[in-house]
Amino acid sequence: MGELLPVFDLKQVTQQFDRLLALDRITLQIYPGERVALVGSSGAGKSTLLQLLNGTASPTQGEVWAMGHNLNHLSVKQLRQVQRQIGTIYQQFHLVNNLQVIHNVNAGHLGRWSFGKAALSLLYPFDRQSAAKALHRVGIPEKLYERTDRLSGGQQQRVAIARVLVQNPTVILADEPVSSLDPELSREVMDLLRDLVQESGKTLVVSLHSVELARSHCDRMIGLRHGQIFFDAPTHQVSDRMIAELYHS
Ligand SMILES: Nc1ncnc2c1ncn2[C@@H]1O[C@H](COP(=O)(O)OP(=O)(O)OP(=O)(O)O)[C@@H](O)[C@H]1O
Ligand SMILES: [Mg+2]
Repeated sequence: MGELLPVFDLKQVTQQFDRLLALDRITLQIYPGERVALVGSSGAGKSTLLQLLNGTASPTQGEVWAMGHNLNHLSVKQLRQVQRQIGTIYQQFHLVNNLQVIHNVNAGHLGRWSFGKAALSLLYPFDRQSAAKALHRVGIPEKLYERTDRLSGGQQQRVAIARVLVQNPTVILADEPVSSLDPELSREVMDLLRDLVQESGKTLVVSLHSVELARSHCDRMIGLRHGQIFFDAPTHQVSDRMIAELYHS
C-alpha cells in the first residue's frame, strides 16, 4: 500500500464560508480502485468535499493533492490537465436538454477538443462510434439521436454516465447521482456505476443519501458530520449504531 500513489491526498483541509465551517480539518487518502461512499446529513459537507476533489473549489486552509499534484499550486492549464482525469456526475445530470443525446455524450471530449472542433461537432457529430459504444454500455443504444429532454430521469442519468465514459477519466466523482430516481432505478444506475469502475479499475467517490446503497455498492464509507470525519472505515465495519450516531444531530 505504501508504494501506491493515492488518487487523492487531503491534508488538514478546511473550507470556511463566512463563519460557517463546511469542512473542518479533513485528512484522508483515497487509493486507486477504491469505491468510497460519502454519507452524512444534509449540510454535513459532502458536496463541498467533492468540489475540492475535482478542483472546482479551493480550500480555505490545508492541501488537496490529486494524482500527485497539489491542486492549489497549478496553473489553469495544468489544473485542466488533471481535471481531464476526473469525471463528475451530478444529481441534476447537467445535460443540455434541447440537444440530441449524441452531443451530450460527446461533451465528454470537451477537455481534449479545441473549441472549434467542439462547436463544429454540433453540426456534424464527430466520433459517433465512441458515443454509440458508450450509450450501448449504459443500456440505451437506441437513444443516440433522441432529444435529451425526451428521455426519462433514469435515461438522462445514463447519458450523463455515458458522457463520463467518453471522457474516460481515472476517477469518477458522483454527487448524489441517484437521488432524483426511484429506488429500482437508483439501484440499476448504481449497479452500472459500480460495474464500470470495477471493470476498468477506476476509482469512485460517491455521495449518497441512501446508506443502504452505500453499503451494497462501496467498499469504504466516510461518514461526515458537521464538516468533520465522524468515521472512515471499510463498509463491513460500519455498524448500524455508527450510522444512527452519524445522523443524530
Ligand atoms: N458556496 C457556499 N457558500 C456558503 N455556504 C455554503 C456554500 N456551499 C455550501 N455551503 C454550506 O456548507 C455546508 C455544507 O454544504 P454541502 O453542500 O457540502 O452539504 P451536503 O453534505 O452536500 O448536503 P446535502 O446532503 O444537502 O447535499 C452547508 O451548511 C452549506 O450551507
Ligand atoms: Mg450535497
